[in-house]
Amino acid sequence: MSLVNYEGVFYRPLHPRPTILLVTLCPNGKVNVMPASWNMPISEEPPTIGVSVYKGAYTYQCLKHHPEATVNVPSHEYVDLVYALGTVSGRDIDKVARFNIRLTPSETVKVPTWADAVAVYETVVDREVEVGEVGLFVLRVLRVKVREGLVDRWGINLNKTNILLHGVGRSFYLVNPRRIMARQ
Ligand SMILES: Cc1cc2nc3c(=O)[nH]c(=O)nc-3n(C[C@H](O)[C@H](O)[C@H](O)COP(=O)(O)O)c2cc1C
Repeated sequence: MSLVNYEGVFYRPLHPRPTILLVTLCPNGKVNVMPASWNMPISEEPPTIGVSVYKGAYTYQCLKHHPEATVNVPSHEYVDLVYALGTVSGRDIDKVARFNIRLTPSETVKVPTWADAVAVYETVVDREVEVGEVGLFVLRVLRVKVREGLVDRWGINLNKTNILLHGVGRSFYLVNPRRIMARQ
């Protein structure tokens, strides 16, 4: 098969992507939660994560209002919740109340942690890079927490749980837990 020009939406060949839930504190005094699959580790020293947030999302306003967030990694069991959280806005409804999101206090930031996450990063906004319709938020990691036994030296242990890779729209993929090792 040869390489051909792709006329579809440009980002599709970069999907599926790992999805996280971004928790923020908002101007309306509420905690808000939105899924984000445009996320990535940026640097190890200092530890930073980048998340691209659409300027029209309430989360964008929340990050401007209170420059902290928790980055929460959901397991595959929460696929319906993750999708649903991305179809409504915290501007219109209290997502925490509507979806019975279980929150617990974080240790280093005012923004709470999602109690059911596989892993959680407590972060503070280092800077925002404006690009087109989004703000790329560079988040400085202050604390990392993982659910005991679910993360080993190779990453999340996929024989014990699974993660959500976001395809496009309602589609998600699981990761095949068969680990292969590259030659040294
Ligand atoms: C799986 C999934 C991943 C998403 N990833 C992103 C993302 O990386 N950045 C973004 O701005 N919106 C993303 N969205 C859309 C937002 O989650 C959606 O606009 C949400 O309603 C915003 O909520 P808010 O207005 O309460 O902030 C995603 C939606 C889904 C379902």
